[in-house]
Amino acid sequence: MKARIGFVTISDRASRGIYEDLGGPEMQRVIREYLSSPWEPIAVVIPDERQLIEQTLERLVDVEGCCLVLTTGGTGPALRDVTPEATRAVCSKILDGFGEQMRAVSLQKVPTAILSRQIAGIRGKALIINLPGKPKAIRECLDAVFPAVPYCIDLLDGPYLTTHESVIRAFRPAAK
Ligand code: MTE
Repeated sequence: MKARIGFVTISDRASRGIYEDLGGPEMQRVIREYLSSPWEPIAVVIPDERQLIEQTLERLVDVEGCCLVLTTGGTGPALRDVTPEATRAVCSKILDGFGEQMRAVSLQKVPTAILSRQIAGIRGKALIINLPGKPKAIRECLDAVFPAVPYCIDLLDGPYLTTHESVIRAFRPAAK
């Protein structure tokens, strides 16, 4: 069975068609390069409305059965940036290491990476990861955390994800 992966672009302007959604396609491009096991995307573009973000994350996990949901945008300090709040509200556990690692790696690239409040967490059997809105930031952040993602999904009884090892290597600890 194909693993379902949700891609949520959170942007007032992209959702109104004022500019093209570059982040959504970039997230899919990176995942396509990483994964060798079968998967299918469910992509959504929505404005920076907390309630709508929460409803979308809930639907992608609870109804569509996504094992992984990536969001892009709305992680910064601006008034309308509420993606981390919405993510926290729908998750039962927060995996602090994801945000810490993504910011640590991003700070090597740009000093403004400190402005991203991105988090990751678990809802049901799914992992939700926030990525910044800049398309360039998407690969920088995913490269930093994706090696731990397939094992995280194993622990949630999700599909067994495998990667193209020349691109990125999934780390699974040896059985106890
Ligand atoms: N992270 C990486 N890896 N590369 C970047 O260029 N841009 C930063 C930051 N994180 C950036 C990054 C900037 S400029 C901002 S304002 C914050 O992410 C928040 O972006 P967002 O509100 O679009 O999510």
